[in-house]
Amino acid sequence: MSPRACVIGWPVEHSRSPVIHRYWLDQYGIDGAYEKEAVRPEDLERFVQQLWTNGYVGANVTLPHKEAALRAARSADEAAIAIGAANTLWLDPDGALHASNTDAYGFMTNLDAKAPQWRAAKGDVIVLGAGGAARGILYGLLKAGVPRVLLTNRTRERAETLREAFGPKVEVIDWAARNEALAGCGLLVNATSLGMTGHKPLIINIAALPNDAVVSDIVYVPLETPLLRDARARGLATVDGLGMLLHQAVPGFERWFGVRPEVTPELTAHVVATLGED
Ligand code: ATR
Repeated sequence: MSPRACVIGWPVEHSRSPVIHRYWLDQYGIDGAYEKEAVRPEDLERFVQQLWTNGYVGANVTLPHKEAALRAARSADEAAIAIGAANTLWLDPDGALHASNTDAYGFMTNLDAKAPQWRAAKGDVIVLGAGGAARGILYGLLKAGVPRVLLTNRTRERAETLREAFGPKVEVIDWAARNEALAGCGLLVNATSLGMTGHKPLIINIAALPNDAVVSDIVYVPLETPLLRDARARGLATVDGLGMLLHQAVPGFERWFGVRPEVTPELTAHVVATLGED
């Protein structure tokens, strides 16, 4: 039987995962399939525990199921446990459900590919946001050895919760202090949904960032957010959010279909071509 995987969400219609995985299936000539599964929150646990019966070797998990998917799994990797959420599931050889989180891997791999100089830049890293995306990014940055991360969020309490989870290398600063804090930062990451088409704009003045700073955004609709446009206008290196999405898909595809796929300019162009379709 040819292997099948899926993305599970509620709603799931807007997920980009099928575009990515179907491109790779085609590219590598694999006789497999990748579907969308709209699963209600109350049905999630049963669905993933019967993944095999449902005809799947594995799955991606998107909102709002990432935490529940981790809880439903028999085993989980370190990243999923630390982040408290899973985005990739597969069945172990004995049929047990394994949960993984590849968001941190995707973010860091993309950052290293697009702006490797960020590691040499002096100063702190500053992360905007304290939701699920910020959690994955914090985990990735600390795992990569970043000595200090400034974390700022509109709701300070949520940032404090992340500091408690990740320890003293995370320093919380007020949302109102974000502009001034940039003076000592070599990397700025927007991990909020601000700046996304249909969402509120991200209000930030990046004038204080040093000239060798790198600016990264998790938002990829539009591909060049106003934040990235401002950074480019200042001559700073920029990293868009689409690369993270593409790279986070790699480990799952490899598990399910047995080939480690590549993130190429052709794949990027293929996915970009679908972004305007909603
Ligand atoms: P995700 O899990 O995808 O990161 P989320 O948990 O809803 O999504 O988090 C969205 C992030 O965008 C949060 O950091 C949120 O700030 P709050 O924790 O204060 O809600 C941030 N965000 C959303 N709208 C915002 C706004 N108008 N101003 C500032 N931050 C905002």
